[in-house]
Amino acid sequence: MSFLLKLSFCILFLFHFVTILKANTTPPSSKWLEPYRVTITNHDVPVVVVGCDDRGAEIIRPGQSTSWKFRMNFFGTTSYNCRFYWLEQTGSYNVNKAVSFPVFDDEIVKLCGSSLANMNRCYWMIDRIAFYFSNTTDGSFPNDDAWRVMHVWSYG
Ligand SMILES: *[C@@H]1O[C@H](CO)[C@@H](O)[C@H](O)[C@H]1NC(C)=O
Repeated sequence: MSFLLKLSFCILFLFHFVTILKANTTPPSSKWLEPYRVTITNHDVPVVVVGCDDRGAEIIRPGQSTSWKFRMNFFGTTSYNCRFYWLEQTGSYNVNKAVSFPVFDDEIVKLCGSSLANMNRCYWMIDRIAFYFSNTTDGSFPNDDAWRVMHVWSYG
């Protein structure tokens, strides 16, 4: 959504806000920017540790996902940078490979969509080779063309 469109929504919102305050009812929370859900799934890496900004570190094993939802901020600058570690268990855990990149930013958002009314979905799939993106899980991984390679593992 363009900045001007957001601005007009904001003005419209403020107008309603003032009207509602006058009516002496509870003001609505700001729930009017595009909703997003980011889902990161581990396809076949034995152990992946992922840490995205302030979300804390999580372990995802093959077939497991981590997922969260949020709304785009007013300025359209919401982003999540994640660091991924591929762990190998050889007695103790060792970092085999690692990589870090934004799973959501002003570029990725273009791939997720920008619906105001419906959840916009950003799916990431991890396998032993790469990190893939899709805005749908209708097709099967990795055969469906919707999955595109965005990053590859590098050495830790
Ligand atoms: C989902 O991605 C495809 C390309 O892979 C694109 O054509 C389509 O417009 C996207 N959907 C949305 C809602 O952005």
